[in-house]
Amino acid sequence: MKIQVPGTTANLGPGFDALGLALTCYSYLEVKPAGEKEAFSKKNLIYKSFDYFFQSFDEPTPNVIMELRGDIPSSRGLGSSAACIVGGLTVANLISGKGLSKENLLEMATKIEGHPDNVAPCIYGGLISSTEEQGRILTASFEVHPDWKFYTAIPDFELSTQDARKVLPKKISFKDGVFNISRIPLLLKALEIGDLELLRAGTVDALVQPYRGSLIDGYEKIKGFGQKYGAATISGAGPTILIITKEDLDMDEWNNFTVDFNHSWELKRYEVDREGTKLI
Ligand code: HSE
Repeated sequence: MKIQVPGTTANLGPGFDALGLALTCYSYLEVKPAGEKEAFSKKNLIYKSFDYFFQSFDEPTPNVIMELRGDIPSSRGLGSSAACIVGGLTVANLISGKGLSKENLLEMATKIEGHPDNVAPCIYGGLISSTEEQGRILTASFEVHPDWKFYTAIPDFELSTQDARKVLPKKISFKDGVFNISRIPLLLKALEIGDLELLRAGTVDALVQPYRGSLIDGYEKIKGFGQKYGAATISGAGPTILIITKEDLDMDEWNNFTVDFNHSWELKRYEVDREGTKLI
């Protein structure tokens, strides 16, 4: 059995822990029965999620070998842990024959991940806003105009979500809360209709990026580069920077621009994945 799992970019500026977008950046999870002497380690997030599924039905977990390969880089803010969780749960759902709905899988995935913003678009595809309401995860999906191009500037270093969450303040001011609330509708409309001015205003965030920026060597410069062509924001917990634009970015210009940076930064272009995780 082989499934395709998309990478995701969360937050999109002001939508911390709520907004996420699936990208055409894929990993593939292959599963086969394990030999008699092969046993899997539950430390791995794919197996942990696979095991979680069977545990929650009080059933024994089948012994399988799973291998994840593909383009979603680890700990870079492109939903690699969501891909492992959704991959493990989806495979468990298929093998068990339980036929759980996507909504139920999302609830399980959110329990494992702690927040729904990556796992929701990873399951459904597209641009999704999600929240938890009395144990259920409610989602809404939004249109993305075909003119938008999504570039990811991916550095050669990792940043763990845990470390990126540690720098966030325990309390926020009313002013900053209002600031972010006012941006999100503009962002969603901008993405829907292809309006660059609204997008620029709609991706500014007062709650998270002012604190996380300092963890990413090169952040201000890359943000400035992205803003020249469109909007730039930290992808998920970072360190990848997402650039949303209508223009084709020039790779030579990018390479010249980043040549003196302390780290190498790879620029990749993706489209919106509209299908989510699927069996192939
Ligand atoms: N919303 C999450 C964060 C995404 O920014 O910490 C990463 O898991």
